[in-house]
Amino acid sequence: MSFLDKHKKIETHATLLLVLSLLVVSIGGIVEIAPLFYIQNTIEKVEGVRPYTPLELAGRDIYIREGCYVCHSQMIRPMRDEVERYGHYSLAAESMYDHPFQWGSKRTGPDLARVGLKYSDAWHVDHLINPEAVVPESVMPKYSFMMNNEIDGRYIADEMKTHRMVGVPYTDDMIAAAVEDFKAQADPNADTTGLQSRYGKEAFKHLDVNVANFDGQPQLTEMDALIAYLQVLGTMVDFSTYIPDPTR
Ligand code: HEC
Repeated sequence: MSFLDKHKKIETHATLLLVLSLLVVSIGGIVEIAPLFYIQNTIEKVEGVRPYTPLELAGRDIYIREGCYVCHSQMIRPMRDEVERYGHYSLAAESMYDHPFQWGSKRTGPDLARVGLKYSDAWHVDHLINPEAVVPESVMPKYSFMMNNEIDGRYIADEMKTHRMVGVPYTDDMIAAAVEDFKAQADPNADTTGLQSRYGKEAFKHLDVNVANFDGQPQLTEMDALIAYLQVLGTMVDFSTYIPDPTR
């Protein structure tokens, strides 16, 4: 009996084909999955990654609400063209407090995983109001209405509690000061000692919280929150001192 004849037996016998296929797929599955049981953590430990401040968290909600992820990914793959264009490839730890994560699956616009501090706040305001004014060939929609949508953070403490339920380490202190921190981050004249002690360099080793009047208007708007969020993306880990752990 030739090899092909033996194979014909399998191919013409539905149950045998099913059993053997399952066997092959399970071996493949075990080879891929079992090693994960033996490493303690699939997320590398890095310094600097912190939970979003209340204002950044609100900005993230706006990002999700507006479907920015439909055109933008937040995941730089470890391939040369991506790393040269966008910066250090994304680490799992960088999105460990993202629920749900914003890796995305489509890039109509560029990846945003490291867009933080790449442009000025004023650039973002101009760009979000009318992308074509800044990048003439842009197909990105206009978001000028965000300049008029005032926000006050009244739900943000509840949202932080919800994030805590799924593992984001918001402390009682952070939740109690949620509205205060929400407003202070967008007000350069506010006392930000509390905000910085909760989310800043002392607590998380890398950068202080970026405090600014993001949209340049006296009132606190969705534009402030969204830009606060965009400006923190990819900035939490200090890549000038980061050394990848080769055992992971
Ligand atoms: C229809 C697709 C689309 C949507 C939706 C979209 N964008 Fe864009 N975005 C683009 C394109 C295309 C570009 C590149 C041209 C440009 O800079 O405008 C871009 C560029 C950007 C840039 C500049 C990135 C860089 O590194 O130069 C930022 C920041 C940005 N978008 C933020 C957002 C945010 C925030 C939202 C949601 C409020 C959003 N985009 C929604 C398509 C989109």
